[in-house]
Amino acid sequence: MTLEIEQFMCRSDNFGILARDSETGETALIDAPEERPILEAVERTGWTPTMILTTHHHGDHVAANLALKERFKLAIVGPAAEADKIPGIDRRVKEGDTVRVGRQEAQVIETPGHTAGHISYHFADAGIAFTADTLFALGCGRLFEAKPPVMLSSLKKLAALPLETVIYCGHEYTKANARFALTVDPTNSALKERAKRIEALRSEGKPTLPTTLADEMATNPFLRWHDPVIRRNLGMEEASDEAVFAEIRKRKDLF
Ligand SMILES: [Fe+2]
Repeated sequence: MTLEIEQFMCRSDNFGILARDSETGETALIDAPEERPILEAVERTGWTPTMILTTHHHGDHVAANLALKERFKLAIVGPAAEADKIPGIDRRVKEGDTVRVGRQEAQVIETPGHTAGHISYHFADAGIAFTADTLFALGCGRLFEAKPPVMLSSLKKLAALPLETVIYCGHEYTKANARFALTVDPTNSALKERAKRIEALRSEGKPTLPTTLADEMATNPFLRWHDPVIRRNLGMEEASDEAVFAEIRKRKDLF
């Protein structure tokens, strides 16, 4: 019994994701960035979605909600905290709520920061988390609707998941993220190796996602606020986690 995943590109750099319970065949879309590539993925796989699991209200994550609802009569699940901005929402969820896709169950984790109500979905038995624009491969989302400590506490929740958790994100930003990560953590050999693999994947036009929490803990500067080498590089050996995280985020914004 597993959660099967079909990941594909939408718009310029958004990921569309179909997640199917292998036992019942029930299928969820994770966000709905663009109708046409989603319909192509449904056609290609034969997996017909019965629900959309929305992570946050941004247009590039909800653009196809109403068209897909009309076509498939699917149910739209999304964050209660920004329900008024999610087109067609049927079910409002918050921290600790569970969502079922067939026999697979996801816990809702509130991960505000990028938006004030952003949520992530953790399928614990399948060992998969959908973190959209909170945690990226080698990055984290821009802080449009919250201050750094809010995002830091969201990232701390994700960092507490099992290390083997497979992480799917909202965008293919990894190559640019790697270039930035190397500026704050240039001697990290795991990061240097990973940056090379990312370069190779992108030059072949392949996605760099999914990732794993273990890889992110080893190489993503936004999960390494505690790392003594990064702190030394920033001249912030004694600073709080919040201050280190805020400095890294500020540098990325200006990068
Ligand atoms: Fe977003």
